[in-house]
Amino acid sequence: DEKKLRQFYIGSIDQGTTSTRFIIFDGTGKPVASHQIEFTQQYPHSGWHEHDPLEIITSVEQCIERATELFIDQGHDISDIKAVGITNQRETTVVWDTNTGEPLHNAIAWPDTRTKGLVRELKARDGADALHDICGLPLSTYPSSVKLVWLLKNVDAVREAYDEGRLSFGTMDTWLLYKLNGGKERDIHVTDATNASRTMFMNLHTVEYDDKLLGFFQLDRKKVNLPNIVPSSSPDAFGALSTGRLKGVRITGCLGDQSAALVGQQGFSPGSAKNTYGTGCFLLYNVGEKPVISKHGLLATIAYDFGGKRKPVYALEGSIAVAGSGVKFLMNNLGFITHSHKISDLAASVDDNGGCVFVTAFSGLFAPYWIDDAKGTIFGITQHTERGHIARATLEATCFQTKAILDAMELDSGHKLAELAVDGGMSNSNLCMQTQANIIGIPVDRPAMRETTSLGAAIAAGFAVGIWKEFDELKEINQLDRMIFKPNVSKEESAKMFKKWGRAVEMCRGWLA
Ligand code: G3P
Repeated sequence: DEKKLRQFYIGSIDQGTTSTRFIIFDGTGKPVASHQIEFTQQYPHSGWHEHDPLEIITSVEQCIERATELFIDQGHDISDIKAVGITNQRETTVVWDTNTGEPLHNAIAWPDTRTKGLVRELKARDGADALHDICGLPLSTYPSSVKLVWLLKNVDAVREAYDEGRLSFGTMDTWLLYKLNGGKERDIHVTDATNASRTMFMNLHTVEYDDKLLGFFQLDRKKVNLPNIVPSSSPDAFGALSTGRLKGVRITGCLGDQSAALVGQQGFSPGSAKNTYGTGCFLLYNVGEKPVISKHGLLATIAYDFGGKRKPVYALEGSIAVAGSGVKFLMNNLGFITHSHKISDLAASVDDNGGCVFVTAFSGLFAPYWIDDAKGTIFGITQHTERGHIARATLEATCFQTKAILDAMELDSGHKLAELAVDGGMSNSNLCMQTQANIIGIPVDRPAMRETTSLGAAIAAGFAVGIWKEFDELKEINQLDRMIFKPNVSKEESAKMFKKWGRAVEMCRGWLA
């Protein structure tokens, strides 16, 4: 019952693209203490995007310590924290030396496009056409596979480790689990099925590594140490924290961040969907226990895998590379605002976009377009253009891509979504969410507590230690004070805006580097 649930706590590590958080939830899904740290984004060349894997570990440890301190200050007892869950930026690729446990290079972050040329070469290779049906992903700069191949081709230390059979590979979940467990000593080297489904090494149908995929990328399994694929909720696969105030607390949940958000929004039934406006923006649509391979530019992925008697559940995904990072660009590179949340006020300082369309193709364009060589382009600038117009066009860019993704999803699934559940930083902007509803022509449903990604990892962890046993028991969580944005423009008007966007997308193709 509710009183009992209030006495259980679960910690949730959310290691995102630009920041790390640790949130402690009670058993009713209410956050009681949290801490967040932004870490360094490294852009060594145009299109390159890296993270220091050790800085990330430090940020996680600091967040855990600070949030736990706040928890204790409130009079709680840390022995009531029953488990910890992890959720993370996906695809980002880390390599380390199996013998020393030390990274061999910076992590290559998911939006990085240095592999553009390599992807072109790979697309021309025999067998390229067969990959999509096996792994559900289009060959692009986005998955981990091409990042690992680039490292092997370009970084001597990585190549040498591979040749000598001491190269360990992982996505961010794997790296965190390895290090938080104490590294080499306990040697936990695992990944959950949702993260594994982003590497392009996993067969989506069998949920195992696939020799055809590894062979295509010319990887020898004897030379590269790949993490074991395990379910996202498990009492014993992920080990336990090895240092700090929470030393000994078991890690029992692990999900890629977009999967975690779907779980946090309770998108458990086929046909439910969520859209998370983080650094990028990702729409996941639950398709049930069989994968649907998209014919319209979407990704097929594992939505979540709670293990035991439960089968893995699949999703169709529309991935947008730039959402919050577009707002950060206006702030950090152009000095338009001093804090991200001020974007909404700036956008509201004008009545409309003043004729501007901003195709925020900083990493090319992802779903459903997959245009590797597109570059960010602003169309329609005149003497009338103000910062507010550009701010509006930046928010609208994500809303238009969401519309394109929903159209593709309807074609792939044969169903039209009735309502879109949203969360993530940009969803705090009422103006942005109203714009979203207007562009897609269906209501947008926003929860009051928008840390749904962290909540999802806490739910996966809580299931593994028996806090909840059935999805039904979660029904009450995060249902109060949801806000619904209903479309308030005519269909003709929104169709006109979307047509203009489509033209802008066509015009930013083939931009020379
Ligand atoms: O696929 C990349 C995604 O997992 C990153 O999420 O929230 O950091 O934009 P986010």
